[in-house]
Amino acid sequence: MADQLRRSELHSALVGAVRDVRRQATGRVLVLSGEAGIGKTWLAVGAANEARSLGVALWAAGAAQLDRATPYALLARIADDDGSRMFDLGELREAGGARTFGGLPLGGEAGRFEVVESVLATVEARCARPTLVILEDLQWADPASLAALPEVAALTATQPLVLLLTRRPAERAPDLDRVLTRLDAVDLPVEPLLPDEVDDLLRELCGARPSDELARRARGASGNPLLLREYAVGLLSEGRLVDQGGEVDVVAADVPAQLRSAVAERVGALDEDSANVVRAAAVLGAVLDVAVLGALLDRTPLALSTSVQAAIDADLFEARGPHLAFRNDLVRDAVYTDLPLAVR
Ligand SMILES: Nc1ncnc2c1ncn2[C@@H]1O[C@H](COP(=O)(O)OP(=O)(O)OP(=O)(O)O)[C@@H](O)[C@H]1O
Ligand SMILES: [Mg+2]
Repeated sequence: MADQLRRSELHSALVGAVRDVRRQATGRVLVLSGEAGIGKTWLAVGAANEARSLGVALWAAGAAQLDRATPYALLARIADDDGSRMFDLGELREAGGARTFGGLPLGGEAGRFEVVESVLATVEARCARPTLVILEDLQWADPASLAALPEVAALTATQPLVLLLTRRPAERAPDLDRVLTRLDAVDLPVEPLLPDEVDDLLRELCGARPSDELARRARGASGNPLLLREYAVGLLSEGRLVDQGGEVDVVAADVPAQLRSAVAERVGALDEDSANVVRAAAVLGAVLDVAVLGALLDRTPLALSTSVQAAIDADLFEARGPHLAFRNDLVRDAVYTDLPLAVR
């Protein structure tokens, strides 16, 4: 951990890349990787804000959990702040199937070549202006979009283009691993916050200096900003933070390790049917396939919808467009760990 980059250093690296691209004819590829809730999007937002304030063109998209089955889903989602799309899904698909032999699409390498040519032409035209492209959650990206990534990344050597990618390393994504090893990228691992960074964030969340006891308990969040935020905001909303002479102290003896029981509570507060759906989902893993979940419980996806909505309302699941996910790995882990060993 000795060489871990601080948040301020990660932020500076991203902001620096955005500033440089305005002055230089070329850019670079940056990859933020880290667990759920660790702060990748927060950092990416910092880069996006810098781009906006400097007049660097900004395009962004995030992959969603069920994207793998939809060719070009990620590329087709890339949009600017006004919602204008960089690519047209129909055109991408057409380019992918354009090469035919005897009326049949050739597909494979030939189709890929056509798409990459078309993608590169579009991105290059955009790069008449210094440009930042943010692609998030690549662990879920569809293979067709990923296949175009090396060539797009290579444009950063000749165009004023910064490509900022984010991913969770824990989720298996062999296509992505293969692609990333081919990129000339700056790897920026996003590690848990350091103890003094936890203290600073805690102070910000509490609005005053935390007592030693509160600071000590907050370490139970293991430096994950999402959990830390849930812990502190949870205490605040429960009225359990009190100001004691300019210092915020915690009332009642709950400890942060209880984030897990907080999640268990949330599950327990659901009707029994929905709680069982959440528990079954935890057994399946962090990535949720509604059809598989339905099969496990012998229910159709439609029949699951009430329970799924209840879990979304309880902040256990999250809807991402048409897709569904555990709010983060840690929530899933918390539910999973509470299950009796026999059912895991
Ligand atoms: N350095 C920070 N200071 C203050 N809040 C932060 C910081 N980093 C993250 N947060 C907050 O913590 C929460 C989780 O962060 P974020 O969404 O960036 O995680 P992530 O790594 O993108 O997770 P995921 O893999 O689930 O997308 C958010 O509410 C975010 O605003
Ligand atoms: Mg994120």
